[in-house]
Amino acid sequence: LENGVARTPPMGWNSWNTFGCNINETLIRQMADAIVSSGMSDLGYKYVVVDDCWFNPNRDSSGNLQGDPSRFPSGMKSLGDYLHGKGLKFGLYEVPVAKTCAQGTGGYPGSTGSQGHEAQDARQFAAWGVDYLKYDYCSGSGTINDQVTTFAKMRDALAATGRPIVYSINPNSFHCCTGPQRNWGDVANMWRTTEDITNRWDTGNTNGYPMGIQNIVNVNVPLAGNARPGAFNDPDMMEVGRSGLTDTEQRSHFALWAMMASPLIAGNDIRSMSSATQTILKNANLIAIDQDSLAVQATQVSNDGSRRVLAKKLANGDVAVALFNQSGGTTTISTTAAAIGMSGSSFTLRDVWSNATSTTTGAISASVPSHGTVVYRVSGAGTPTSPPTSPPTSPPTSPP
Ligand code: DGJ
Repeated sequence: LENGVARTPPMGWNSWNTFGCNINETLIRQMADAIVSSGMSDLGYKYVVVDDCWFNPNRDSSGNLQGDPSRFPSGMKSLGDYLHGKGLKFGLYEVPVAKTCAQGTGGYPGSTGSQGHEAQDARQFAAWGVDYLKYDYCSGSGTINDQVTTFAKMRDALAATGRPIVYSINPNSFHCCTGPQRNWGDVANMWRTTEDITNRWDTGNTNGYPMGIQNIVNVNVPLAGNARPGAFNDPDMMEVGRSGLTDTEQRSHFALWAMMASPLIAGNDIRSMSSATQTILKNANLIAIDQDSLAVQATQVSNDGSRRVLAKKLANGDVAVALFNQSGGTTTISTTAAAIGMSGSSFTLRDVWSNATSTTTGAISASVPSHGTVVYRVSGAGTPTSPPTSPPTSPPTSPP
């Protein structure tokens, strides 16, 4: 969507994966403090997104949305001010139907959805200082055209406010109409391509709730052609730093999200994350690959079911290559510089985790543990890229 924002994939944090409906302003403020003190905001994690369940079930006498007075007693504008005061951005959740989904709780009480209130609610979000709207089609029945019309309505309402607001939509947690195939780049800055993620490696499905990391990758990789500045496939918020995945799997998860030019929206408790989690979420090499200004998604070079190779072109002529082991045991995965679109006779490979460099005349190969992903940043002769030591130069969050 050409609305001036999300020129690279948005980065931030969302309350849903860890907290579900158990949210309040103290929690969100503490998380914001931790995003700053951990150094994550300096690396680009800017959007703090309050997901479902922030609502007062009753609109005010003028029909305006209100925050739940017991969970957000200071009000939503005050929360936005707090986040902006920390150099962060304010994200909020809504739905295009009558009721939000509040999954697992049978729906949030009241009529808090924006259906029929699009213009009024968009103005309210802008007045609160909202910088990012997650718009979640989680229930209802319709057709693909209804869904497109419904999402476009809020797109236009947000544009009419004049405030730059990242528009993040979820057409896929309720599969009434589109499935992951539709390219939503005319409607939104990012769109979910799958059902909800969960903290498991493989749930065995390509559809249906919930989905493991491997299953989401299977759906999202073929959609590479949709990604461009302002428009990104969204394979869902991350499970890094939550239980259920091994360290190797969490590294793979983060590396694959970066290769897929995915929004990097953390879903863990930032206040108490381990140093292992920090090492993953703060990997500056992978963040630079995700946030590269070409903003293309990695395409598949090969996949024999066990060994999968992805390549992502980068703005300076380098190519990031991922060697992803989908099998149950350690294996060697190989490709070549020519296969990832590079010509020449000498290349430098930088391992994104160790920063170790090596040179090659074309062969690219690594021994990769089960569910692991080795990522090299490949440069042509004489132009090895130094590892980024400081945050990406232009934060993905600011409008031009
Ligand atoms: C479904 C979405 O896919 C989740 O990310 C979350 O927003 C829940 N709805 C909230 O009810």
